[in-house]
Amino acid sequence: MRVLLIGGGGREHALAWKLVQSPNVEKLYAAPGNPGMALLKKCECINLNVDDLEGIADYAEEKSIDLTVVGPEAPLVAGLADVFKRRGLPVFGPSKAAAQLEGSKAFSKELMAKYNIPTAFFKICEDIDTAKAYVEEKGAPIVVKADGLAAGKGVVVAMTKEEALEAIDEMMGDHKFGAAGARLVLEEYMEGEEASLLAFTDGKTVVPMIAAQDHKRVFDGDEGPNTGGMGTYAPAPVMTDILRLKATELILKPVVEAMAKEGTPYQGCLYAGLMIKGDSVKVVEFNCRFGDPETQVVLPLLDGDLAEIMLACATGTLDKAEVAWHDKAAVCVVMASGGYPESYEKGKEITGLAAAEEDKDVVVFHAGTKEAEGKIVTSGGRVLGVTAVDANIKAARDRAYAAVEKIAFEKNFYRKDIAWRALKR
Ligand SMILES: Nc1ncnc2c1ncn2[C@@H]1O[C@H](COP(=O)(O)OP(=O)(O)OP(=O)(O)O)[C@@H](O)[C@H]1O
Ligand SMILES: [Mg+2]
Repeated sequence: MRVLLIGGGGREHALAWKLVQSPNVEKLYAAPGNPGMALLKKCECINLNVDDLEGIADYAEEKSIDLTVVGPEAPLVAGLADVFKRRGLPVFGPSKAAAQLEGSKAFSKELMAKYNIPTAFFKICEDIDTAKAYVEEKGAPIVVKADGLAAGKGVVVAMTKEEALEAIDEMMGDHKFGAAGARLVLEEYMEGEEASLLAFTDGKTVVPMIAAQDHKRVFDGDEGPNTGGMGTYAPAPVMTDILRLKATELILKPVVEAMAKEGTPYQGCLYAGLMIKGDSVKVVEFNCRFGDPETQVVLPLLDGDLAEIMLACATGTLDKAEVAWHDKAAVCVVMASGGYPESYEKGKEITGLAAAEEDKDVVVFHAGTKEAEGKIVTSGGRVLGVTAVDANIKAARDRAYAAVEKIAFEKNFYRKDIAWRALKR
């Protein structure tokens, strides 16, 4: 099988790492890929304009690609899968219409309301006055969300009315997120513990993965501003077997069924961000792709052939695919550039990568690196995802941190408490 993978972050490195383990994958092209992916056997990083959807399909045709896997949400929301489908090319990832589950929070809330899928109460607002009146009526805490894609920054969990009103002004008045803020979703504040449950689906069959938990805040103890994710672990014990079953039966399966009923079948990875409180589980959000950094801990636990599973999703045969999970745990510690998520310097040489990977159960996923004059240097805020697999969370965590200590670059920092919620239990 010849596979094309779109993307070049930590998530895509994890996808590539698992894809090349498939004996059926003869060649993997990654566009643009990254220096970590370039070291994988069978993997070649290529330059493709990822905004040119037809151009990507041309390339897939030229290279006789059997399966294209789309990492990030933007090309899916832009309609990459539709172009591939029209041209008869197998693709893993939802159509533009189905990607609205992530691309429009209003769309996803309305779908959940229509099909009785458990989620927070909400109101969709088209103008500032309606939004502000709703905040005055409901009070705080309340959650203000830009409808469209805002690179993970379009949500304000407002603990006071003033914060909520200010967020509305910024999003709608000052157009902080452009067109993404033309509509807002105002939402009831939910208490509880969050977890991410991802699933493979071909539009009919739904196969949940292992639940993961990430750490969005930049500092230990979940303090400081939000980031793209400072670390993650799986399985997340907050998601008990019963809750996972509940989430599958009450959320994942009904959503996939609803999308098919609406005439916009959903195929690819369905990411459910969930809020758990006691024995209740509710949807915080859906994403139309794998999570970053959740992928870095979920895929190492997959006991199966990722390429075959993805091809089965793309071709509607997931009911026949074999998907199993190792009875182990994985922990990923993100090493970041000093200053992130605010401004930070780039171009710092990274040392110790090979030493860290001397442990056979450690993988260092590259998220923000590049090659310069034969050296690997930093090129982003989140630089590396140092991942270890072991029998349990505690052992995996110790191993991940041992590997982190072998890696160095100027002004690096990382959280020291990844998986603390699991260990506290
Ligand atoms: N109704 C809610 N109650 C409490 N917290 C919430 C609620 N909605 C969102 N949050 C918090 O805000 C975070 C971001 O919200 P959401 O996942 O909808 O945004 P997003 O920008 O799409 O995130 P991502 O970048 O992970 O896709 C959630 O992870 C959660 O911590
Ligand atoms: Mg989202």
